[in-house]
Amino acid sequence: MAIIQNWLPPSRENWETVCFIWQFFPVITAFQWVLDWYPQGKTSTDSRFNIPGKIGWATMESAGFIVLLYNMFTLPSELGIEELPWGNWTMAGCFVIHYVYRALVSPLFLNPSMSPIHPLVWTLAFLFQVFNATSLSGWLAGYGPTTVNDWAGRYWAMEIGLVVWAWGLLGNIFHDDDLREIRRAADRKQRKEAEKLGRPVDGVDKVYMIPKNGLFALVLYAHYLCEWIEWAGFWMVGGWKCVPARVFLVNEITTMLPRALQGKRWYEKKFGKDKVGSRKAIIPGLV
Ligand SMILES: NC(=O)c1ccc[n+]([C@@H]2O[C@H](COP(=O)([O-])OP(=O)(O)OC[C@H]3O[C@@H](n4cnc5c(N)ncnc54)[C@H](OP(=O)(O)O)[C@@H]3O)[C@@H](O)[C@H]2O)c1
Repeated sequence: MAIIQNWLPPSRENWETVCFIWQFFPVITAFQWVLDWYPQGKTSTDSRFNIPGKIGWATMESAGFIVLLYNMFTLPSELGIEELPWGNWTMAGCFVIHYVYRALVSPLFLNPSMSPIHPLVWTLAFLFQVFNATSLSGWLAGYGPTTVNDWAGRYWAMEIGLVVWAWGLLGNIFHDDDLREIRRAADRKQRKEAEKLGRPVDGVDKVYMIPKNGLFALVLYAHYLCEWIEWAGFWMVGGWKCVPARVFLVNEITTMLPRALQGKRWYEKKFGKDKVGSRKAIIPGLV
């Protein structure tokens, strides 16, 4: 059943249009290179329109895996495809695993606190998810490979890609958790003092320190770097012909690179250049 005729799931023509437009996303991110205004996370602002961080992340990031799963379960039958090959389901599984972690587990269950998000950032992230999931799921659910033979001959590349994807995901989770530990430790300290002095705890909103473990010793945005590795592995699973996976990786890099560079300037301003030391923003020894 189509929720929006010819869009959800998409007709081939509409899917091709989405894929074409989606390639130009890096043009939109140009504003991130010239503007320091980015009302989310460390650089969130006070606005009465702000969305609470945890709810914002859960709602904007869930759109992707919901659209992808919906298309995976509806488009094949519309196209008369009886069964999608396991390669398609493997890639869909990778995407869903990542975004269940990112959209649900991380903000709703693991993160001690998250800064509020301006509706503009929420809207852009939501659109990112919808465009990206439509582009990927169109390819995975009927307009890309549709038989086991379409995957034949490149199982070794898929296996290496999956290993790279899994290490990237683990690295992303590990470094996310290192950031969480900063606030968990602050919370433990506050609670101890509150108990001793009989005063209320302040809360850990906007508590920041320079992370130091793992790849954070080399770069300030180690979690971003690991996410790039993850989606590079994902592209390797799909192969060179999987244009949606390539566009996904390129679009992530074009939005996360300026954000990490802005973040490095933020760390230097807050803690001083000497404390940041020789750490780069995102690529060890380079940027
Ligand atoms: N931002 C993007 O464009 C983007 C795009 C694609 C994927 N992602 C992925 O989404 C995840 C979150 O991205 P993000 O941009 O929100 O990352 P982030 O700014 O590093 O924040 C991640 C979480 O850690 C907290 N945090 C950040 N730096 C901290 C520090 N120095 N000390 C203590 N806590 C700190 C943040 O709290 P506050 O919210 O209070 O700052 C937030 O809860 C990352 O794993 C990233 O790979 C991000």
